[in-house]
Amino acid sequence: GIASVFARQIWDSRGCPTVEAEVTLASGASGRAAAPAGASRGEYEAIDLRDGGIAFGGKGVGRAVDAVNGPIAKALQAVDARDQALVDSRMIEGDGTSNKSVFGGNATVAVSMAVAHAVADAEGLPLWRLLAGDRHVRIPLPEIQIFGGGAHAGRRTDVQDFMIMAPQAGSIRRALEITGNVYHAAGAAMEDAGLLAGTADEGGWWPNFDSNEAALSMLVSAIERAGYRPGEDVFISLDIAANELRSGTGYQLNLDGEKLSSDEIVDRVVRWSEDYPILSVEDPVGQDDTAGMANITARIGETVQIIGDDFLVTDAGRVAKAAEAAAGNAVLVKVNQAGTLTEARAALETARELGWATIVSARSGETEDVTIAHLATGWNAGQIKVGSFARSERMAKWNELLRIEEALGSNAEFAGAGGLPRRVG
Ligand code: PGA
Ligand code: ZN
Repeated sequence: GIASVFARQIWDSRGCPTVEAEVTLASGASGRAAAPAGASRGEYEAIDLRDGGIAFGGKGVGRAVDAVNGPIAKALQAVDARDQALVDSRMIEGDGTSNKSVFGGNATVAVSMAVAHAVADAEGLPLWRLLAGDRHVRIPLPEIQIFGGGAHAGRRTDVQDFMIMAPQAGSIRRALEITGNVYHAAGAAMEDAGLLAGTADEGGWWPNFDSNEAALSMLVSAIERAGYRPGEDVFISLDIAANELRSGTGYQLNLDGEKLSSDEIVDRVVRWSEDYPILSVEDPVGQDDTAGMANITARIGETVQIIGDDFLVTDAGRVAKAAEAAAGNAVLVKVNQAGTLTEARAALETARELGWATIVSARSGETEDVTIAHLATGWNAGQIKVGSFARSERMAKWNELLRIEEALGSNAEFAGAGGLPRRVG
C-alpha cells in the first residue's frame, strides 16, 4: 500500500518550475518522477496548472504541489500501488474535471509515474519490465530532431521539428551513432554556411533559414555529409505543429509570408514529401481539422506516417474517432497530455488495436526524468520522440535506451521499420 505521497517544485530544462513527486510504499520501496511541460500545446490537453501572478512569470507550480501534498496524498493513502488503474482513477475522481484543471495534469502525471516507479522498486524490476510483464518487447525506433523551429525557436521557421529516422539501423546503439553523425554534420554545414547560431529548446540547431525548404535541403546535405544515403539509410520526419500556425480558418506561414487554406497546407506538405525523403509528418493541420488529416492521409498515408499530436492529445476517444475518419495512421503519446499513465496507455492501446503506429513522446520542457524510455519499451510502442541529440534532459532518455538494450542482451529486438504503420517504410 501507499504510505506517503510528497511533491516539491523543481526546475525544468527551460529553467521553469515543474512538479516532482515522491511516493513511498509501506514496504519502504519508493519512486520519483517529474512532470514535463509543452510549449506548443493542444487545447484539449490536460491542464498544466500554473500559479499565475508575478513570480516566475506566472509559471509557479505551488498550487499543483499543494494538490499533491493535500488531496492527492489523502486520496491515495493505503491504496494498493500495484493497481495503477485504481491509483489513477482516485486522482481522476478527486479532480472531478475532464481536463484535470483542479489538481493539474502536472500534479497527477508526476504522481502517476512515481507510483509506477515505486512498484518497480518494490518488485526489484526495471520499470520497462514491470510494464511489459512476460511479453516480448522491442526497442522503439527513434525520431530525433536536427533543427528545432516553431514555438521552440522564436518561430524562426514555421515547421517545428526537422528530424531524422534510421529504420534500418538494427539497434538503438547504431541508430544513435547515425544520429550523432548527422547532428554534428548539420552543425558543421551550418558553420560553413555562416548560419550557426546555437541551439533551440530541445537541443536542435537554431534554424537560421529563410524558408522551410532551405532547412529541408540543409538536412539532406547533412545526411550526405555524414556519409549516409538520404531516403535509404536515413529519412526525414517533420512535426509541422500546424496548430500553432492557425489564423482564422487557415494557416499563416510567416517565413514564406503566405496564408494557406487547409487544402493548400496539405498540398504544400505533399509536395515536400515528393521533393524530400520524408517518412513521417506530424500535425500537418490544426487540432480540429479532421478533414485535413483525412485528406493528407488519403493522399500520402500509404507511404508516409501521419501522426496526430495536438490533434489527438493522447485521448483514446479522439484516437478512435480519428481512425474512423481515416484521419492519420499514428498517435503521439505524451503522458502529460492525458495526465495519468492509465489514460495514456489506453490511447496507445486503442491506436494499436486500430492498426495505427504509436510514438511515445517527451515535451519541449523536460527534466532528467527518464520514465518515457521505460514507457516506450514496456508498452511496446513502435517509436520514441525525445527532441534532439544535445542537452542532458534529452540525452538522459537516449542513454537509458542504451542501458535497456544492453539489459535485453541477445533478446534485444530493434523495432526499426516494424515500428512504422503497415506499408510505410
Ligand atoms: P511541445 O512540443 O512539448 O512544446 O508541445 C512537442 C511536440 O509538438 O511534439
Ligand atoms: Zn507535435
